[in-house]
Order: sequence, then C-alpha cells, then structure tokens
Amino acid sequence: MTRHFLRDDDVTPAEQAEILDLAARLKADRFAAAPLAGPQTVALIMDKPTLRTQTSFTVGVTELQGAPFLVDGAKAQIGTRESVPDVARIIGRQVAAIVWRTYAQSDLETMAQYAGVPVINALTDDFHPCQLLADLLTIREHKGTLAGLTLSYLGDGANNMAHSYLLAGATAGMNVRIVTPAAYQPRQDILAEAARIAAATGGSVSVLAEPGEGAAGADVVVTDTWASMGQEDEKEARAVAFAGYTVTAELMATAAPDAIFLHCLPAYRGYEVTAEVIDGPQSVIWDEAENRLHAQKALLAWLLAENEGGTDA
Ligand code: NVA
Repeated sequence: MTRHFLRDDDVTPAEQAEILDLAARLKADRFAAAPLAGPQTVALIMDKPTLRTQTSFTVGVTELQGAPFLVDGAKAQIGTRESVPDVARIIGRQVAAIVWRTYAQSDLETMAQYAGVPVINALTDDFHPCQLLADLLTIREHKGTLAGLTLSYLGDGANNMAHSYLLAGATAGMNVRIVTPAAYQPRQDILAEAARIAAATGGSVSVLAEPGEGAAGADVVVTDTWASMGQEDEKEARAVAFAGYTVTAELMATAAPDAIFLHCLPAYRGYEVTAEVIDGPQSVIWDEAENRLHAQKALLAWLLAENEGGTDA
C-alpha cells in the first residue's frame, strides 16, 4: 500500500518524532539528503492561494535534488474540467509525489486512491498537517520538548488549523486546548480521534470557551485567521463572533511567563492578534515560516523512503 500524508494522524507518534528529527538534521545541513536525485519530479497543485506552501515546497524539492512542477489549479480545474481520478492517474504516472492544496478532504483522498504515488496534503478545508510539522519543529526548538507542554489555540475551532493542532498535538503528547465560541466547535469525530491518541501518548485535548481561562499557564499560544480561504464572505460576521478572542498582550500575560506565540500566517493584525504580540519578543513566527521548508523536506524524504519498493505505485 502506498503511504500518504493526508491528515496529521497518518503518522504514528514514533514516525512524527522521526520526521521532526530528520527536519532538525536537514535544517542543520540543508543538503544532507537527496532522495529525489535523478532528478524526479514532484507535482505541486495549488487550487487555493499560496505563498509559504508554494515557496517552501519549490525550494524543498529543489534542495532534495528533485524538480518541482507547479500546477495552477485555476488552469487545471480539477474536478470540473477533469475528474479527480482521471487527473490522479495522468499526473501520478509521471511524478514521484503529488502535493495538493485544495478544498475538500474527500477529493484529496480520491487523489491518493488513484495516483499510485504518495500524496501530501498542502492544506484542505479540514486539515493543514504540513504546517503542524513546522509548528512542532519550532516549538521543539524553543522549548526543547513537546510532550507535556500545553498549547492553547484561540479562534475558529472548526477550521483546518484547529483540527490539525488537535491531531498532531495529541500525537506529540501535548495538552491541546481549543478556545472557541460555542458555534465554532471542532468536528466531533476529530476531537474523539485526538482524545484517543492523547490517551496513548499522555497528552490531552479540551475545548474551552473563555479566552483568559483557555490561555492560563499555556506554554504555547497560537491563533489563525478568523476567516479561512473560501470563507471571505463571512469575514464581517466572524469578526463579531470572535470578538474577545484576539491574542493581546493582556492575554499573553495569563500564559506562562516564557510562553511563545505562533501563527501560521497570513496574519490580520488587529483581528486575531495585536501587532504588539505578533511583532513582539514572544513571537516565533519567522522561525515557524522558515520551518515549513525543513519540515516538508523531511516529510518528503521520509515518505519516499517509506514507499520505496511499494507494489502498487
Ligand atoms: N485557516 C487558514 C490557514 C491558512 C494557512 C486558511 O485555511 O485559510
């Protein structure tokens, strides 16, 4: 069976740690691995807007001595001009791996079913697992560990980042708190799966409504845009719904004194976070953005090694 990375719990706790270890090694020595030497091509299909993802995968594949091939989703029109299974078989017969940023998680799963090569989730409506590898690498760099740390996520509890924090944080043995209004609860099946993982790793997951309580004593405070890509029409309604969930200096003061602040970016200063916090001394967002590169290189190298000798490619 070809292995893919479609959601954060597609890797075990041991595998997640292995990928993060490799990412740290590749950060220290950027050209230490060349699994795509040949070179082999990796398709990067971008249906939604992208800056960090396109940059870090393009640079990463190049540094692994492969050839990145950027597919403009607007031109390819996957799912309308051609079906996902047809596209999967056309591209999958020519490339070493497919990286796809799209809307529906079910389309990504269909791509994986038909591609015959590893498929990587570069963000869907439901998950953003590559971002979480970068976040965990960043937290580990600044805190020296992951297991046992408390991470508080404030904002939209039903979006891709909240879901990925639940799954990836639980896998890492962290205590993940989702702090969100009642109308924006995480998906129950994802919350249940995160709780199941946390029970085995020694972590925990919880959903809280009150920001001050949610951030109290946290080692890591994170947030995300209140209106994700595809939700632009809801921007004003969401600004009302999430008023009070802004990460301010006052809120950071309720967290641990040495707490760090993360944001996957792009950030909307004055909405989900103040400029004082995101541009202040506790913010590690530039390390986090850089770590997309190292984490994804490690993921690609690890996934291709895992699939070496696979029979259905
Ligand atoms: N939740 C955000 C993440 C951006 C990286 C979005 O989907 O737009």
